[in-house]
Amino acid sequence: PIKGVIFDLDGVLTDTAEYHYRAWQRLADEEGLVFNREANEELRGVSRRDSLLKIIGTKKYSEEKFQEMMDRKNRYYVESIENISPTDLLPGAMDLLKELRSSGIKVALGSASKNARPVVEKLGIGEYIEVIADGFSVQEPKPAPDLFLFAAQELGLEPGECIVVEDAGAGVEAALAAGMRAVGLGPVERVGEATVVLLSLEGVNWQDLQASLNSLVL
Ligand code: G6P
Ligand code: MG
Repeated sequence: PIKGVIFDLDGVLTDTAEYHYRAWQRLADEEGLVFNREANEELRGVSRRDSLLKIIGTKKYSEEKFQEMMDRKNRYYVESIENISPTDLLPGAMDLLKELRSSGIKVALGSASKNARPVVEKLGIGEYIEVIADGFSVQEPKPAPDLFLFAAQELGLEPGECIVVEDAGAGVEAALAAGMRAVGLGPVERVGEATVVLLSLEGVNWQDLQASLNSLVL
């Protein structure tokens, strides 16, 4: 039986994926680096360092300059999340969190972001989340399974007892590598590898989701 749900944050519970994109776009424009919304699809769920590595491509920078660019992007991002509030939760997210709590399902966050905690606080969902695994929790970023394994361990559950909800290809990959079933949110081109693919959490209830996950022969 499924005993725990691990949620990615950016692009799953709230649309901060858009703010990450805008911050990278601003940095890329300032640096004259070729980047756009389409290229950004590759960055979903990808750590800050790996994101910048993908953006610079074959260009070479000193570690100092590289650090400065990561810091600058993060400043832009932090500015943009300053005013987020519970109204920034994506449709269906709050209802599902409430239903999971009343169903006795444990909930963790599994986000690569070092800004996950302040975002959770601003969204007002801290009381629904038992464990936060974030950008400080493990060394190896998604698509490595480490972050989700850490979250399961902190919840006191076996990987097979947990499912992951993700909007990123790298995150779906990480979940499956951890031995967890994955609910992918978004187009199949992005999350098609997931156990179950949905467009969003809108209208999703736990009973139905659990039933569709369990009906699949793995
Ligand atoms: C999440 C987001 C990525 C972001 C990463 C690191 O996975 O989906 O877009 O690059 O976290 O976030 P941070 O806030 O630490 O730069
Ligand atoms: Mg995400």
